[in-house]
Amino acid sequence: MTVRPIELVARRLAAAKRVAVITGAGISAESGLRTFRGATTADLPPDMQSLWKEFDPATLATPEAFARDPAMVSKWYDWRRMGCLAAEPNPGHRALAALQRAVEAKGGEFVLLTQNVDRLHQRAGSIGVVELHGTIMEWRCTTSGERMTPPESAFRTYPPTSPFTPGALLRPDVVWFGEMLPPAALAAAASAAGSCDVFMSIGTSAVVYPAAGFLFDAKRNEAFTIEVNLEATPASEFVDATLGGSSSAVLPALVRAAFGPGAMA
Ligand code: OAD
Repeated sequence: MTVRPIELVARRLAAAKRVAVITGAGISAESGLRTFRGATTADLPPDMQSLWKEFDPATLATPEAFARDPAMVSKWYDWRRMGCLAAEPNPGHRALAALQRAVEAKGGEFVLLTQNVDRLHQRAGSIGVVELHGTIMEWRCTTSGERMTPPESAFRTYPPTSPFTPGALLRPDVVWFGEMLPPAALAAAASAAGSCDVFMSIGTSAVVYPAAGFLFDAKRNEAFTIEVNLEATPASEFVDATLGGSSSAVLPALVRAAFGPGAMA
């Protein structure tokens, strides 16, 4: 693992024509949203631990689980949706929106890939976010696939029924284990990873594929690769630079170092 000072990384970022970023649950941790696994910044009570420490993904995050118990699964996702609606973007999200503006202002290309379903990047001002794992903010008809944004209050009954097709249900528009990622998102991610000069992996444990593979695609394509995380991950030994620490502290500092103090304004 090569550790380089933030200024060196900032220089690579400032010189890049094409920047691709992938984020995971860690970037939203300081907005109060629980990660799935891995480190946290705080010594947290059990009900704030990583989700997959308290819950079993096999009973919640698979099509089979929804088929078995749609009421329980939809209630759990709606509970998480309420958490996302109550959360606010943090300085890490805002720094990536500022980074996009700075890169695009000098004629460069910027692509933000996220595994997060919380929409906090968009609320912080990021444009064209590629949602690899869908979003919890939209739900879709189990029969027709039509999507809707539910009201900002919890559903009254579980499972919620579809307004599109009589007898059908609504399910969260997220990608469950065993399901395909949205083809357009996959294509956008593959293209960004294959053409960028700098690839950043932020707040992800880098264990869930295919998302975790884009960093390696970028590396094979000779991009400069950077990881921002509180702890080492399986990607750490392959990246060119590691910025250890919380994304809400590291990213604003990095954007300021690369593009000047005004870039975060
Ligand atoms: P994880 O929960 O697996 O990993 C979160 C990562 O963020 C860990 O490596 C932590 O060390 C790091 N982290 C925590 N707080 C941080 C902070 N403040 N600053 C920087 N890093 C921090 O989340 P993902 O990698 O996003 O998929 O998980 C990938 C997928 O697994 C999710 O999209 C979800 C899950 O199962 C599905 O549900 C399909």
